[in-house]
Amino acid sequence: MLFEFDLIIVGAGGAGLYAALEAGKAARTAVISKLYPQRSHTGAAQGGIGAALGNVDEDKPDWHAFDTVKGGDYLVDQQAAVILAEEAVQAVYDLENRGLPFSRTPEGRIDQRKFGGHTRNYGEAPVHRSCYAADRTGHMILQTLYQQCIKNDVSFFDEFHVVDVIMDGTKITGLIVFELSSGEVHIFKSKAVLFATGGFGRMFKITSNAYANTGDGPAVLARAGIPLMDMEFFQFHPTGIRGMGILITEGVRGEGGVLKNRDGERFMERYAPTLLDLAPRDMVSRAIMTEISERRGINGDGELDDYVLLDASHLGAEIVEAKIPDIADFCRTYLAIDPVKEPMPVQPTAHYAMGGIPTDVNGRVTTGKVLYEGLYAAGECACVSVHGANRLGTNSLVDLIVFGRRAGKHAAGFVKSADFGHIPEGIEQKWLDRVHILKTRKGNGPGNYYKQMQDIMMRGIGVYREESGMAEAVEGIKNLREEHKTVRVQDPGKNFNTQVLSILELENLLDLSLHTAAAALNRKESRGAHSRNDFQQRDDKNWLKHTLTLVRDGGVEIDYSPVDISRWEPKPRKY
Ligand code: FUM
Repeated sequence: MLFEFDLIIVGAGGAGLYAALEAGKAARTAVISKLYPQRSHTGAAQGGIGAALGNVDEDKPDWHAFDTVKGGDYLVDQQAAVILAEEAVQAVYDLENRGLPFSRTPEGRIDQRKFGGHTRNYGEAPVHRSCYAADRTGHMILQTLYQQCIKNDVSFFDEFHVVDVIMDGTKITGLIVFELSSGEVHIFKSKAVLFATGGFGRMFKITSNAYANTGDGPAVLARAGIPLMDMEFFQFHPTGIRGMGILITEGVRGEGGVLKNRDGERFMERYAPTLLDLAPRDMVSRAIMTEISERRGINGDGELDDYVLLDASHLGAEIVEAKIPDIADFCRTYLAIDPVKEPMPVQPTAHYAMGGIPTDVNGRVTTGKVLYEGLYAAGECACVSVHGANRLGTNSLVDLIVFGRRAGKHAAGFVKSADFGHIPEGIEQKWLDRVHILKTRKGNGPGNYYKQMQDIMMRGIGVYREESGMAEAVEGIKNLREEHKTVRVQDPGKNFNTQVLSILELENLLDLSLHTAAAALNRKESRGAHSRNDFQQRDDKNWLKHTLTLVRDGGVEIDYSPVDISRWEPKPRKY
């Protein structure tokens, strides 16, 4: 079938839904999502959304912007960070007005908790900045926005998966979309497309990311020749449930939880004497891995499974049940551990992609040299860049809301004066041929390619990195991409053929793994989440620049673009 809309938004998490709410007022807008919107990964965000409301402590957006820049190890575009912090305040009140049930102070204001790397007065001490709804903040944001979209008659195409973009030079004219329930292929013609497809943490073995986080937007655009930015920077959240990766919110430490090694020592005193357990995530993850490698961790069941303890037992049952009820539930369900009585076993878990589709502050896709007409991106799949080399906790939700809204608004303005572009006759045949080949060629099923990719990425592109491991990862992923070309779909059915979907998702992850591993190997310094044993210092002289990667003919081409440091001069990070 052929569908026609002014604007199509791909992805129904926080960024996509906020963009749809904004754009839907002014333009014929549709949201395409491979999931039911309520299952989007925004729902997994726990600890809060940062905004300088000053409800608990004195606070200022400028302090928030500074923390964002410093937390990102100065690879953040600084004017974008200022926008993020300034617009966060109104964004939170907008969410409140739309019905989001925030936790409250005794006086009835939105309550705020401490979070890693958030400080008052440019680094003096931790500040209460994270606005939260217990440990279900993302879930509440998702439900609130989805209800508002339904109320405002936004059109949804659920369980529709985008397989390709239709471009006319650098202008987007539509999408090729696979409908999971029927196996049919559809063309969506539009003046503008906004990608909000989220992250791609499934490339790693231990991850907090949902199965659906396969980077479909960035992968599809990269295959269309659009470079991706800063892909080497992948954040490991310090506290995933050991062996499983399920997120244990930083909010636990924000409420007073403490990390301990096997000797019961509060080891963060040695790594970040001022902020302690609330230092930025890259530092806390490194500290945990150092404790483990120096044999002060606790032995797990196998390689990569050693861990440390997160102790919240001193907080008392009332705080645990009121402020981190889901965490308590996860620990009781998955580990048979009651955090009211015992510490939780944790290890770093692959959590968040700082890199992605390069955009300006209005969500327009651009490398700085080329602007792609009608093409927008927002949320985790995009790189504005407000997270630089290491995102601060809570800033993912801020990013979704602030830049989802800005992109939706800008796109709605753009389509008013734009024309529809050209859709070549019979273009869907390309996809139908592909499925036919997938179903009929000689080859094996997807088998354990997923596992092999996750092992390679975990070993070579983890918290600590070095030349040989990264080079092995690049070669290993290149080989897997070749082998993946022979994968065959074993299920001949049309309806709900999830094997087709999973082969496409794996292809996306393999492509993005290559961008990530190659960009990491290329960057010869340590900065934020990219920490090399062989180049341990940050090197502003040679590496204060964004990376742009393009995969062509199996190889990776690398280019650079400048970082906006117009506000704060880069300094060494101390916490
Ligand atoms: O720790 C957390 O609750 C995660 C929040 C985030 O990634 O911003």
